[in-house]
Amino acid sequence: MKNNCSTSTPQLITVRDRQTPLTPELLDYIEETFTAEDSFLSDVVDASWYMEGIPQINITGWQGNFLQFLVKSINAKNILEIGTLAGYSAITMARAAGDNAHILTIEKERLHYKYALERIAQAGLSDKIEVVNANAREWVKNYKPLQPLDMIFLDADKSGYWQYVQRLTPHLRSGGLLIMDNAFAFGFLLDTAPERSPELAKSMLGFHKKLLGMAEYFTTIVPIGDGMLLSRKT
Ligand SMILES: C[S@@+](CC[C@H](N)C(=O)[O-])C[C@H]1O[C@@H](n2cnc3c(N)ncnc32)[C@H](O)[C@@H]1O
Repeated sequence: MKNNCSTSTPQLITVRDRQTPLTPELLDYIEETFTAEDSFLSDVVDASWYMEGIPQINITGWQGNFLQFLVKSINAKNILEIGTLAGYSAITMARAAGDNAHILTIEKERLHYKYALERIAQAGLSDKIEVVNANAREWVKNYKPLQPLDMIFLDADKSGYWQYVQRLTPHLRSGGLLIMDNAFAFGFLLDTAPERSPELAKSMLGFHKKLLGMAEYFTTIVPIGDGMLLSRKT
């Protein structure tokens, strides 16, 4: 952060002055240094695109490192993820969760589901990660975990987040974490004329407010990747 202190004319320092902008160089440094991505995970993403045409919309290596930090912080073992894609984040979380972990991840696209299954097997994590091929909007209606969940990671259809939160909150244990990606609506959160999904920006802003209003959670937001919302169940 730049030093804005002056000995001559005292000036009020704004919040913006106290926030160091994430320059491309700083971001490159962080992504290289604080990353959960190894050569296997980077191949999962590259090959998913080149071989199968699966979009590279997984979390970043730094986000993976952050998720692993959260998993370890609360010793999360029973984790639910909505939105598997190629299995990148599920593998990342499973590696941090260690012994006796169960990561249940839901994916509606058959191609993504099959690719993820293969890569999870190659990662040697088939005993820890269960992939379900279903539309989570329907699946969630009948879902009842055998044990309360330690952590929920929402990373699928953003317009479904509120429905997922309502349905899944009763299944999250006290002290458990609810984590949601794309809190910045792909960068268009505050755009008055969003080029992409105008409805998404509006609904994501509304979602922030609804989440902050939930008595069950203490919520914060972190500017990592496309923004992550973190809610701790009281
Ligand atoms: C952003 S990607 C998930 C990335 C993954 N979490 C990672 O970081 O490796 C979103 C995935 O959610 C899936 N998806 C979207 N809507 C869904 C729904 N209603 N039910 C289940 N999966 C859905 C998409 O097919 C896509 O594979």
